[in-house]
Amino acid sequence: MNEPLVLGIETSCDETGVGIVRGHTLLADAIASSVEEHARFGGVVPEVASRAHLEAMVPTIERACETAGVKPRDVDAISVTSGPGLAGALLVGVAAAKALAVGLDKPIYGVNHLASHVAVDQLEHGALPEPCLAMLVSGGHSSLLRVEDITTGVDPLGATIDDAAGEAFDKVARLLGLPFPGGPHIDRAAESGSKVYVDFPRGLTSRRDIERHRFDFSFSGLKTAVARWVEARERSGEPVPVADVAASFQEAVCDVLTRKAVDAAVTHGIDHIMIGGGVAANSRLRVLTEERAAAKGIRVRVPRPGLCTDNGAMVAALGAEMVARGRRPSPLDLPADSSQPVTSVLV
Ligand code: KG4
Ligand code: ZN
Repeated sequence: MNEPLVLGIETSCDETGVGIVRGHTLLADAIASSVEEHARFGGVVPEVASRAHLEAMVPTIERACETAGVKPRDVDAISVTSGPGLAGALLVGVAAAKALAVGLDKPIYGVNHLASHVAVDQLEHGALPEPCLAMLVSGGHSSLLRVEDITTGVDPLGATIDDAAGEAFDKVARLLGLPFPGGPHIDRAAESGSKVYVDFPRGLTSRRDIERHRFDFSFSGLKTAVARWVEARERSGEPVPVADVAASFQEAVCDVLTRKAVDAAVTHGIDHIMIGGGVAANSRLRVLTEERAAAKGIRVRVPRPGLCTDNGAMVAALGAEMVARGRRPSPLDLPADSSQPVTSVLV
């Protein structure tokens, strides 16, 4: 089977995503988001997300099939995010995928959410170079991975030791009075601000830290530094220059991410960097990575912003790759594993 037709289901957080792909071709990417229901809480409320998935699941599957012009029985396989993510939210997707697999008598692939963020790039730029250095930056994760064959495993080179990059964007946005999720709002506010207005700290970049944490990240100190700076400004009675603080904070995050990603690629002799996860939608991160990678002769691949944030197409993309490479499907009693390690790409 050369070009497998796969339906993928994603429910690890607040997006109910159903994607349909044929090999590397995207046919449908239907999404229902409960983000507005969480906005007033300043973060995703797991129970609210699970209920929203339950309500959105069938209509989203129907919408994806309609857009792709396929019937569920036409697909070669079902793939689903088995983890990591919110336990209750994952359960809804896994249960739906099992129901489809049993009802249609199709194989099921329970795949890793993070590996799917990498595989999605194949829908836009074709087969992933092997090896490839993946910088995964989302609301829950920030890691550097060496990827040889995305269907068999990834090799973690480094990760955040505290907050994820997206989490830092969301928390700092809150401090600045910007809505949730904060990443896109900081990105927009930063356009009119100065990157050098405040020299915020760059976590784990001192010589001592580099010895132990060369490819690891830390963003919690940066978040605290922004909070202190904003509090001091408020106490002084002067207005907080939101655009400048947003731009300076964004620069601190992007500076560290890109510096370490390029260093990891050079150190491991890898000449392609792919950026995945919600924060890959950040405009400054894209530009700075391109700039620094080009200086070392490294090519950069970033999916378009709509494919960087959580979606079903990425899960279908990884599922299609599993089928194309003849990987054995998951057992029908596959679990939803909220803490599925990044090294386990297929359950
Ligand atoms: O991958 P994703 O959709 O969900 C997770 O698996 O976490 O990532 C969501 C994260 C949020 O923290 C959001 O603020 C961030 O991605 N994000 C951005 C941008 N767009 C989304 N961060 C910075 N700049 C953006 N343009
Ligand atoms: Zn994600």
